[in-house]
Amino acid sequence: MNIRSKTLAVATLGCKVNQYDTDAVLTQFLEAGYTVVDFDEKADVYIINTCTVTNMGDRKSRQMIRRAYRNNPSAKVVVMGCLAQTSPEEVGEIEGVNLIVGTDQRGRILELVESLEITQRESLVEDIFAVRDFEELSVTDFAGRTRAVIKIQDGCNQFCSYCRVPYARGRSRSRHPQNVIDHVESVVRGGFKEIVLTGIHLGLYGRDLNPPVTLESIIQQIADIPGVLRLRLGSIEPHEITDQLLELVANNPVVCEHLHIPLQSGSDRILERMRRSYTTGEYREIVEKVRAEVPELAVTTDIIVGFPGETEQDFLETMEFAEEMGFSRLHVFKYSKREGTPAASFPQQIPNKVKNIRSKRLIKLGHSMAQDYHRLFLGKTVYVLVEEVRDGMAEGLTNTYIRSVFPTSYGEELVGQIIPIRAIKADKQGILGECV
Ligand code: 5AD
Ligand code: SF4
Repeated sequence: MNIRSKTLAVATLGCKVNQYDTDAVLTQFLEAGYTVVDFDEKADVYIINTCTVTNMGDRKSRQMIRRAYRNNPSAKVVVMGCLAQTSPEEVGEIEGVNLIVGTDQRGRILELVESLEITQRESLVEDIFAVRDFEELSVTDFAGRTRAVIKIQDGCNQFCSYCRVPYARGRSRSRHPQNVIDHVESVVRGGFKEIVLTGIHLGLYGRDLNPPVTLESIIQQIADIPGVLRLRLGSIEPHEITDQLLELVANNPVVCEHLHIPLQSGSDRILERMRRSYTTGEYREIVEKVRAEVPELAVTTDIIVGFPGETEQDFLETMEFAEEMGFSRLHVFKYSKREGTPAASFPQQIPNKVKNIRSKRLIKLGHSMAQDYHRLFLGKTVYVLVEEVRDGMAEGLTNTYIRSVFPTSYGEELVGQIIPIRAIKADKQGILGECV
């Protein structure tokens, strides 16, 4: 009799939400006695959680699927997530794929893997727009020992003209508040100090529930749970920053002084074509309003360069606007033409060469803004949640999301603690400090 436990290898492409979904599937397999091995080892089961936000996401997802089959041609290969949802036929044609699951019904993966024969191919992908309920799955947290990422919402109803996400994730659906609270309480018992709330379109949280609840109310409830020392919010759209939310960021010591507000472009002409629902003027007004209450607020953002029709003038407006906003961190995306989205058929698609140049310029500006932001803290005390201690140096993040290092005579026992340090040096990477 073979008593060796079965092995599982996973690969996750893309965002934090995908990471969470992978963890939920991993939880099922661990509970069933599987052992997790490295992706390049010979495993019995491979799971690839795919991304389709850009062409690069598609390409990397396909690469990982092929790699799984190469690593062990007699393994069962499961492909889940956004690319599987939008292109199940294409995924099904890749050699070795046994099970295709989209962005729902992830709870059935284990059962199906166990019952499928290696020669079989099954698809669970269905019309995602028909799915109206948040798929509640339990998650044991492995991702790290300091920050627990908790998904509370899935889907997006906004349909920005460049974005494939709504087709991959379906309508907005929210996790029941009691399940959110229970989950947070369990990770706090597990020793986590920081909770990161995540979703595909977090600002829509609660609107689909009956009775509806608000994002602000769930934030307040989580912040009230003893043991939650930090609460960080994922991406939030400008018009979703209400006075109540501002109040929480400004006055609740648990809520991080950090907002990720996607800008996408600093040109009003382009914003309109992107079908974004704000102007640069409105964006500025919101950031100024929050900064009036929280002067040291960290504002991070996503910007797309090379959207169809983006002129040099539009791009310069983006550069100028970004500089004016003083972002502490930029995520720069080169526009990627996504099949099925309106912008894919817009005229004046921008050549790759131009996208590359614009991306480099903007990334450079991002680095200089990061450095300026980090320098604001020189000589001041910041609080670092320690993630790692190595060679006498501790490393972690401040509540304003600044990567910080400082020398220490302590070891691993510092991990998970929040330590005050004085910032003595700052560069584009972060802060060097000393214990106070
Ligand atoms: N091309 C490039 N970037 C994109 N994003 C979404 N769709 C595209 C696309 N087609 C970026 C947006 C979003 C982030 C998660 O991905 O900036 O905020
Ligand atoms: Fe995509 Fe826009 Fe929805 Fe964000 S808000 S997921 S960019 S459609």
